[in-house]
Amino acid sequence: MRGWALSRGKPSPEAIDGGWRVQVDEPEQIARYVFPSADESVRRLTESTSPALTPIKVCASPDAVAPRLASPWVIDRTSPMMTKPALAMADAMVAADYSVASTGAGAVLIAFAMTNAGDIAAGGRVALIEDVAVFDQIWTHEAHRRRGLASAVMQTLENAAAARSAQRAILVATDAGCALYKTLGWRVYAPYTTAIAPQA
Ligand SMILES: CC(C)(COP(=O)(O)OP(=O)(O)OC[C@H]1O[C@@H](n2cnc3c(N)ncnc32)[C@H](O)[C@@H]1OP(=O)(O)O)[C@@H](O)C(=O)NCCC(=O)NCCS
Repeated sequence: MRGWALSRGKPSPEAIDGGWRVQVDEPEQIARYVFPSADESVRRLTESTSPALTPIKVCASPDAVAPRLASPWVIDRTSPMMTKPALAMADAMVAADYSVASTGAGAVLIAFAMTNAGDIAAGGRVALIEDVAVFDQIWTHEAHRRRGLASAVMQTLENAAAARSAQRAILVATDAGCALYKTLGWRVYAPYTTAIAPQA
């Protein structure tokens, strides 16, 4: 949660009953709640409020979250939370017509892959929270996929994070991301379920 907020330039999470709340202030999301488990604090929150564009994220399966939701809250989706327990430096290899680089001096590091013509083809970022590297916004432009660019961006970020003393890493993956990260030594750690309150 802290890593996500840091990576996205959002305010630090505010502690609430059983979890945290982050002010997001984006057109599609006003704020978000995050809970480490599907316990009674999720029920208390959903009984007390159902704001627009303010999802609840819980580190638990949809089967565990659903019984904690008061109306009108419903399950929206579940994504895999993944970890890499030991970061390791290695060469970030890209094909000859690309290069990869990283930047960032603070707690957020950015990596990108460029074509030799100077177009950005892939990118990603990592936020450093103590010894944990929180990977975020890994992407490859559609025209450049399946050429190893995201793998190279991930390794570049891993090298930069390890150089800053990060020991382990975590992220929440899309399905395509999950397939990619499994090839890079990441493993699924827990389901991460989103609930929303549809507005009438
Ligand atoms: C996921 C994504 C970043 C992968 O980028 P990429 O540059 O194509 O990834 P790579 O070329 O480094 O892939 C390396 C390996 O990962 C696996 N992989 C990558 N994308 C995959 C996909 N969509 N489906 C299944 N396996 C995939 C494959 O094993 C691939 O090796 P292969 O091409 O030899 O089969 C890209 O599809 C993307 O930007 N998707 C939309 C945004 C997104 O979901 N980002 C992830 C957020 S968690």
